[in-house]
Amino acid sequence: MTTGLEAAIEEAARRIASSRYVVALVGAGLSAESGVPTFRGPEGLWTKHGEPDLRDYERFVEDPKRWWEMRQERASRFAELAQALESAVPNAGHLALRDLEEMGQLQHIITQNIDNLHQMAGSQAITEIHGNRTKMRCVLCNRRWPVEGFVIDELPPKCPECRSGIVKGDTVMFGEPIPRDALDECINQSRMCDCMLLIGTSAVVYPAAQFPIDVKSSGGVLIEVNPNETPLTSLCEVVLRAPAGEALTGVVEWLRQR
Ligand code: APR
Repeated sequence: MTTGLEAAIEEAARRIASSRYVVALVGAGLSAESGVPTFRGPEGLWTKHGEPDLRDYERFVEDPKRWWEMRQERASRFAELAQALESAVPNAGHLALRDLEEMGQLQHIITQNIDNLHQMAGSQAITEIHGNRTKMRCVLCNRRWPVEGFVIDELPPKCPECRSGIVKGDTVMFGEPIPRDALDECINQSRMCDCMLLIGTSAVVYPAAQFPIDVKSSGGVLIEVNPNETPLTSLCEVVLRAPAGEALTGVVEWLRQR
């Protein structure tokens, strides 16, 4: 007898197979099975420690030198997250997305995660709307460099390319505008998309949570992969109420055996 989840996995796989351009919108829930804490919900980091100070970015803009000098103090506030990110490796969910891309069933990933686990899993077509923890970025020209090997010989570090911008970690802080190049690519991908997978996101943070609404309003299909309900559940044609690793692996297996 087919379980509810098995039937939903089959329905999701059929919808993906019959779609022209599939995009995955990914959140912290995908990396939960890699030991990276989520932000909201009972065990969420912000629930336990409170959300980061919205004025952090203002302080950076007002006095970037002092902001850089305070980085150790900021790091200690997020030690738990930093440790988890340091030791995290891709899980079955990341690998399933890589497989869907290789099978030609997934065209792009828009990730809200900063953990670099999609790249470690081998996925190629990725836009990181909240940046990447392994990179530095010039806030003026948006050029990026690996953290490793980036020489900081003055505070605040100046952009070695445009020579006038200030360089900071690529991760987007609360209150910081989304880098234009990343935002434009997300909008571009959402416009081409006729089927969006909402994977492990509580869908409450904008502009990321707007993309599924845009896909839906232009006649696209939404598929939610999440053990819990979200504000976008009612807009979804298919809901996989299960952890991403199990659900996405099931979708890949169904598409492989058909
Ligand atoms: N598989 C799939 N989904 C899961 C799993 C799992 N194994 N475990 C938890 N979830 C779901 C939760 O039910 C929740 O809906 O993942 C979601 C995580 O929600 P949030 O913690 O709010 O994370 P996210 O949506 O990515 O937050 C968006 O907010 O704080 C900022 O910059 C941060 O990128 C982040 C943004």
